[in-house]
Amino acid sequence: IAQEFKEKYRPQFHFTPKANWMNDPNGMVYHNGIYHLFYQYYPDDKIWGPMHWGHATSKDMIAWKEQPIALYPDSLGYIFSGSAVVDKNNTAGFGKDALVAIFTHHDPVQEKQKTGKHETQSIAYSLDDGKTWTKYKGNPVLQNPGITDFRDPKVRWFEPQKKWVMTLATKDRITFYSSPDLKSWTRESEFGANEGGHGGVWECPDLFPIKHEGKDIWVLIVNINPGGPNKGSAGQYFLGDFDGKTFTSNSKETKWLDFGTDNYAAVTFANTGNRNILMGWMSNWQYANQVPTDPWRSANTIARELGLKTVGKEMYLTSVPVKELDVLNTTSFSMKNVKVKDQLDLTDKVKNKTGLFRLDLTTKNTADFSIVLANEAGNELIIGYDKAKNQYYIDRSKSGKIDFEKGFGAKHIAPRFATADNIPLTLIADVASVELFADNGLTVMTDIFFPENPMSKLSIKSVSGITVDNLKYTVLKPSVE
Ligand code: FRU
Repeated sequence: IAQEFKEKYRPQFHFTPKANWMNDPNGMVYHNGIYHLFYQYYPDDKIWGPMHWGHATSKDMIAWKEQPIALYPDSLGYIFSGSAVVDKNNTAGFGKDALVAIFTHHDPVQEKQKTGKHETQSIAYSLDDGKTWTKYKGNPVLQNPGITDFRDPKVRWFEPQKKWVMTLATKDRITFYSSPDLKSWTRESEFGANEGGHGGVWECPDLFPIKHEGKDIWVLIVNINPGGPNKGSAGQYFLGDFDGKTFTSNSKETKWLDFGTDNYAAVTFANTGNRNILMGWMSNWQYANQVPTDPWRSANTIARELGLKTVGKEMYLTSVPVKELDVLNTTSFSMKNVKVKDQLDLTDKVKNKTGLFRLDLTTKNTADFSIVLANEAGNELIIGYDKAKNQYYIDRSKSGKIDFEKGFGAKHIAPRFATADNIPLTLIADVASVELFADNGLTVMTDIFFPENPMSKLSIKSVSGITVDNLKYTVLKPSVE
């Protein structure tokens, strides 16, 4: 039965916990036909607190069902971010096909004592498809050598050398470790002291290959807080090679997964074969503890499929909504070759009271234009293209409630990397968020906003005029579980 959430600002097809605080998605893994999402969770309040791993499951990454909490804090500390793997070869000896979670134990007592060693890595396993978890009695499996930020292990199997590789955020760089059994870890190398953005601490990394023209290109994702391109938390990435020991980046340019302010701690699902599927926390440490939602805080982004694209001499990661999202499609309308001069008001055609929709549009890079979401209360969210600067932007300065944090009501900008004349855009809106995929995912922006009423109006504006070659507007339905 379709269950619509009734609370103000509650997303209808993005995962949110029923109540209380959530941050990073953790340990996403596909196993026996089910996608598992774990997440940083504090079950007793709407603000960040002693961390647990919350748990939700889905058959399609769209409709999520919240499950009982998977991991509780213990004598070694809070359960910080990490990953999960399927131990197909039973390397750890917990059982064939065991799910193994690798996470950071964060000890608040040692943190106060400033030992510099309060973060260590530990493991837990599940033999019943994630329902119940047993922490390994030999925890922690990786001690801290004295690095204050030493966390967020992302583990994957490295088949050529038949070993596990852990990518760990270690303050201002990444340290790689390897292991035959998930229990004993050897330091392999470091990356990043002189690469990438350093406006904040490095957190939540990921490392995986993408096949491109018959070759493996290795992707290293490094989330950073603060220091993002539009302030606060954001995800950067590097493309290059990984030989089981060392990662080498093939470019000096700092690249961003998403130029909006609301896609943090994004990492990929494990065990999805050739697909690389990314999901992030749709918030930002700059205001996450203040956003005006109740009785929960924060949602995740929709799942996105990653790819690679070369423009000139540079290669970029692309991300687009997973095809599974199409289950939400309901009625739609299409238009072709429409001239827009000043304004094309689509509100009557849209007839959408909910603010849940997908807009696919193609135009050309000949003039400035914007797509405006609005409501009866006069709130406006503006998504646009600035021709002179060759930039996309999202302006949420008049989007509704913005006064809970001084930096929230801002305009965010993103470079356009594509060089073709055609501009294809996809926009996914769900009550209180918009996800912009421009140029088939070469430039991505994710922004949350808090309108007084649903954004039921839609118009396209261009002062000097554009032609919309194709437009398709699809009303999306709430996800069903
Ligand atoms: C990132 C982060 C992680 C940490 C977790 C704590 O948002 O700071 O580095 O493990 O959140 O909740």
